[in-house]
Amino acid sequence: MNLNEKKIACITGATSGIGAAFAKIFAMQGYDLIITGRRKEKIQSIAKDLSSEYKINVEVIIAELSEDKSLEALASKIKEMKNLEILVNNAGFGKKNLFHEEDYMTHEIMLKVHNLALVKLCHAVLPNMISNGNGLIINVSSACFFIPLPTQAMYSATKAFIKIFSESLYLELQGKGVKVQALCPGLVRTDFFEKMGHDSKDIYKESGISKAMTSEEVVDISLKCLEKNKVICIPGMNNKIFLSLFKKLPRSVIYKMIPSMIKKM
Ligand SMILES: NC(=O)c1ccc[n+]([C@@H]2O[C@H](COP(=O)([O-])OP(=O)(O)OC[C@H]3O[C@@H](n4cnc5c(N)ncnc54)[C@H](OP(=O)(O)O)[C@@H]3O)[C@@H](O)[C@H]2O)c1
Repeated sequence: MNLNEKKIACITGATSGIGAAFAKIFAMQGYDLIITGRRKEKIQSIAKDLSSEYKINVEVIIAELSEDKSLEALASKIKEMKNLEILVNNAGFGKKNLFHEEDYMTHEIMLKVHNLALVKLCHAVLPNMISNGNGLIINVSSACFFIPLPTQAMYSATKAFIKIFSESLYLELQGKGVKVQALCPGLVRTDFFEKMGHDSKDIYKESGISKAMTSEEVVDISLKCLEKNKVICIPGMNNKIFLSLFKKLPRSVIYKMIPSMIKKM
């Protein structure tokens, strides 16, 4: 396998859901891929299918992104790849306990995966992207970047970090040929909620406020946002309307609304 001749896309957390959908779309566009995940059999089977269907090279990296050694190895690898055009920082997970009831290490792991790994990987790829005058970084945040959520204190806060970090990078990189997007989906049908221990039937129950989307829809909208050079991409009209109404409300009203909304969900 030679990953140094063709243009390359690196996607973290491509075992399922949004990451797997990004891997497929960039494979269809002819990119060689570096994909990361932890469920070995599942990600290897995705790699096999994509490489045989689209005649591309796919390298799988099994990486726990909260571990310094794994993260360092991935960052060093992609730093050396002069033709790496795309980085999608997508790996992430949720938890459902109150902050003080969750094991402290889980909070550190979330900070490392959602924020530290993302920062390190952006820092690794940007010098080459800038000297090539060409590159794209998609950082997967969440529509909850604006919303304080009980049981999701770390999740909302780490996703807010991604949103503001990406916007600042976007401004720094103006005129350098490198695009940056903070992708902020609402509910998406993936393995995410089952891993949290939820029954997905309950979560995806259409509430009228937020309709669950597919990963493919989210990725399609992300690419459309890029065409329009939108740095914050919120897929789904419902989510967009909900967030823009929400932003107009005084915080005191939001603090009253949120707990009852969470209870309903
Ligand atoms: N689903 C939603 O409703 C939703 C909404 C807004 C934002 N998001 C965000 O979208 C992103 C993708 O999530 P998804 O919904 O597609 O969920 P998913 O199907 O569970 O995929 C998450 C991916 O992240 C990887 N990952 C999780 N923890 C990791 C860790 N500690 N180290 C390395 N890799 C790790 C997983 O690897 P393994 O499975 O191989 O362990 C998997 O490949 C996440 O950042 C999530 O916060 C999701």
